[in-house]
Amino acid sequence: MERIVSLCKRRGFIFQSGEIYGGLNGCWDYGPLGVELKRNLKDYWWRVMVREREDVVGMDGSILTHRAVLKASGHEETFSDPMVDCRTCKARLRADQIPEKNGVKQCPNCGGKDLTEATPFNLMFRTNLGAKQDDDSLAYLRPETAQSIFVQFKNVLDTSRKKLPFGIAQIGKAFRNEINPRNFIFRSREFEQMELEYFCAPDDGMKLLDYWLEERLKFYENIGIPRAKLHVLTVPEADRAFYSKGTYDIEYEFPFGVQELEGVAYRTDYDLTQHQNASGKALDYFDEETKARFIPHVVEPSAGVDRTLLALICEAYDEETVTDEKGKSETRIVLRFHPRMAPIKVGVFPLLKNKPELVAKAREVQALLRPHMAVFYDEGGAIGRRYRRQDEAGTPFGLTIDFETLGERGDELRDTVTLRHRDSMQQERVKIADLLALLLPQVR
Ligand code: GAP
Repeated sequence: MERIVSLCKRRGFIFQSGEIYGGLNGCWDYGPLGVELKRNLKDYWWRVMVREREDVVGMDGSILTHRAVLKASGHEETFSDPMVDCRTCKARLRADQIPEKNGVKQCPNCGGKDLTEATPFNLMFRTNLGAKQDDDSLAYLRPETAQSIFVQFKNVLDTSRKKLPFGIAQIGKAFRNEINPRNFIFRSREFEQMELEYFCAPDDGMKLLDYWLEERLKFYENIGIPRAKLHVLTVPEADRAFYSKGTYDIEYEFPFGVQELEGVAYRTDYDLTQHQNASGKALDYFDEETKARFIPHVVEPSAGVDRTLLALICEAYDEETVTDEKGKSETRIVLRFHPRMAPIKVGVFPLLKNKPELVAKAREVQALLRPHMAVFYDEGGAIGRRYRRQDEAGTPFGLTIDFETLGERGDELRDTVTLRHRDSMQQERVKIADLLALLLPQVR
């Protein structure tokens, strides 16, 4: 993990928020490469979960949330973790994460055994709307994106004219005042979720739970996380929310252990029922075929953007020993991202920066590809060093514009470039005119 965290900073994937002031615990900023990676992940999720389906529509709810919403959902009462204080070093700890030694709980900070009783700590961030700081103006930063979907269920149903089963999807920020943010971006206080609430008839809930589990496993494979590194935990009844009839956790083998990436939960009709009862507004559904009126049930695949991004980086990270043309061996650090996820798709390199014809041709190739994919132009340093820099950034393809491209070694090679493949380091000669057709299907 240390090497991954260091690469993330060195190459501009992820920085600590407020770093020059000592850092803001549990908050992270994404740099130029990180933001591209994140965007690719969210765009692909949106494409397969919304755009390529007839039965899902999207929405984008507000982050500031009406207190009544989170009262009705149960968050105000129960969205808490058990907190313990260490009387020796004053550390605040999550009771269920304290290690035991010889059956006795010990503070992970100082090893002290003098711990307070566990008390519930509500994880929601509170704020006030307007100038008055009183209970009437209290609002929350949303702890999950799901609740705005439930609250807008009727509006979306009426305006989209969808029939059950159908889903409402959302990607957006969520906030939790975690007692112990840890493992880099794995558990933070501000993060993003990609959530789908898939509404259905009560009889279809269990079947759809299994359907969505499979869909989501396919998704991870399609972004380069192999099935063999994913674990499916069937959450036992005792650990499930009381209203859930079935929950799976999709877990990934992170360097710090097997940990949850996503939850797929059958939440029954709990949420809509709670909001209908609390608001007094009907949130039911009339089935025109059966003439039945009922509150829809819901299956929810809920993924974390940041956790998936961390899994992508962990999965892609590789170090290998390679020998250069002079026979010298060196360590190559390479991020083997799936081309679909890679922040930069193609590096464009004129062989020499002081040959205007090479530079002009390279700029032409850059302009050809740029409207279709993220391209990085680099003319600085030896070509081998430029390749290595892109290996570390996870760029799957490199294009070198050389004297052959200019036709100086015969007409046959004119307007061709060297295409270098990141993973195999193999090179081939490709016509500039064929580049788009060759690269586009691989990076989409
Ligand atoms: N609407 C259901 C829900 O929010 P959850 O299991 O609490 O369920 C869903 O959260 C996903 O959100 C998790 O699987 C994880 O990927 C992500 N997530 C939750 N808390 C997080 C945190 N503190 N930091 C980063 N990601 C988090």
